[in-house]
Amino acid sequence: MKIILPLIPHPCFPDSYQFPEDFWWGTATSSYQIEGAITEEDRQPSVWDTFSATPGRVRGGNTGAVACDHYHRYELDVQLMAQLGVKHYRFSIAWPRIMPEGRGTVNEAGVDFYKRLVDCLHEYGITPHATLFHWDSPQALADLYGSWQSRQMAVDYADYVTAVVRRLGDRITHWMTLNEIPCFTHMGYGVNCDPPHAPGTQVDSLKEVWQTSHHALLAHGLGTQAIRAASPVPCTVSLVDNFAVTVPLIESPDHIEAAKKAFHTCGQNGGIIFPALTGAYSPLLLAELGENAPDIQEGDLETIHQPLDFLGFNIYSGTYVRAADNKLGYEFLDFPPGYPRMHMPWLDIVPDCVYWGIHHISETLGRPDLPLLITENGCAAQDQVNANGEVIDTDRIFYLRHHLRAAHRAIAQGYPLKGYFLWSFMDNFEWSWGYDRRFGITYVDYPTQQRIPKASFDWYRECIRNNRVM
Ligand code: FCB
Repeated sequence: MKIILPLIPHPCFPDSYQFPEDFWWGTATSSYQIEGAITEEDRQPSVWDTFSATPGRVRGGNTGAVACDHYHRYELDVQLMAQLGVKHYRFSIAWPRIMPEGRGTVNEAGVDFYKRLVDCLHEYGITPHATLFHWDSPQALADLYGSWQSRQMAVDYADYVTAVVRRLGDRITHWMTLNEIPCFTHMGYGVNCDPPHAPGTQVDSLKEVWQTSHHALLAHGLGTQAIRAASPVPCTVSLVDNFAVTVPLIESPDHIEAAKKAFHTCGQNGGIIFPALTGAYSPLLLAELGENAPDIQEGDLETIHQPLDFLGFNIYSGTYVRAADNKLGYEFLDFPPGYPRMHMPWLDIVPDCVYWGIHHISETLGRPDLPLLITENGCAAQDQVNANGEVIDTDRIFYLRHHLRAAHRAIAQGYPLKGYFLWSFMDNFEWSWGYDRRFGITYVDYPTQQRIPKASFDWYRECIRNNRVM
C-alpha cells in the first residue's frame, strides 16, 4: 500500500509541483573532478591521474591536476552553496589521499582536508553526504593486482572505509559506498568501449568484465558492513547506481509490461542493481550471458545484498521500449536522427526516465520499501559568458524543470523519493571529455578559477526557496 502524501498546491499555481516539506534539496560533485592538488599532503596517484596523463586518453590532454582547485578554495565554494540555499551536499572522498598506497598506512593530513571541508559545511548548515568511492582508486592497487580485476580490491576497500568512518564518523552520518559500478568496471575494463574509463584495460573476455563488477558489488557489501561497524553514531548507508531506465513508448499496459521485462537486460541492470537489491542476478541476464557469467562464490550474494537506508539513483536519460511480437516480448527503440539532446552523445532528453526509474525500483524489483535519493541529475550545455559576464543557460533550466516535474509525479503517486542532488554544483573535469563539457550550475573560468553562477543557479535557488518546481 502506497501512502499518498498531501502535496499542498501553491494558491496561485494549482499545478505548481510543490514538494513535501521535508524534501532534501542538494547538489553533487566528486573528488577527482573538482579538487586538484594531486600531489599535496602526500596524496599519491589514482588511476585517473595515470589515465589522463596518457596521451590520447582524455580530450585536449586535460587532467585533474588543478581541476576547480577546490582543495584550496573549498571555503568560497561552500559559501556559494549557502547562497544557493542547499541544505545537502554530496561529495566524494579520495581513497589515495587517505591511503596513498591503497592499503596500510593512513595519511592523517589527507583526512584533515575532509575534516576542514565538513566542518565548514556544518558551519553553513549544510549536511554532508560522502561517497566513499567515485572512481579515483589508488594506482598502487592497479600496479599490485589490477584493481577491480582482483577480489582483494573489495577487502582493501572495506579497510579503507573503516579507516575513514572511524575518523570522520563523528561529523558525517550519511555514507554512500560506490558510485556507478557499471562505469568504473564495464567501461574501465570493457572490450570495445568508447570512450573508455580508467584504467582503460581491455580484458580478454566478457566474463572477466563481469568479474570486475562482481568484485565491486562485494566491495559494496563489505563496505556497508564496515560503515555500520565503524560509525560511532547511527548513520545511513546507500549504494549509488546509474541503472538503465526503460521507458514505455506509450503508457499503456502492454508497453509498460514490455518496459518491465526489458529492465532486466537493459545495460548492466541484471548483474548490478538486481543482486544489490534482491540478492540474485536476474535469471534473464544469466541466460543471456551463459559462460560469460562471473564466478560467484558461496556467500557472495548474501554479502552483496545488505540492508540499505537509501538507494542513490543517478539519472540522466532513458531507453524507449515497446511491446513486440517476438520471443522476448519487447524491443528497444533507437533514437531517431534529430531527437533533442543536450551536449553529450548519450544525453537524449527523456524526462520521464526519472519517474520510470523510481517506478521500476518499486514495481519491477519489488522494493517499494526502499527510500530513494536522486543522487545525480543534470546536463551539459554549450554555455557562453555573454558581454555582461552572465551565462544564460535556458537549455539547462528546460532540462532540469522537466526532470523535476517527473520526480514530482513519482512523489505524488506515493513513491518514496526523499531528495534530489543536482549534478553539478560547478563545471568540472568530465572524465574522458576533460574540461570540454560543462555540467555545472556555476560556470568555472578555468584560467582565473572565477566562479560565475549561471541562470540555472538562480532558478534552482528559487525552487529550493519555494520548495517547488519553478
Ligand atoms: C556520471 C558521473 C559523474 C559525472 C556525470 C556527468 O556518470 O557519476 O561523475 O561525470 O556522469
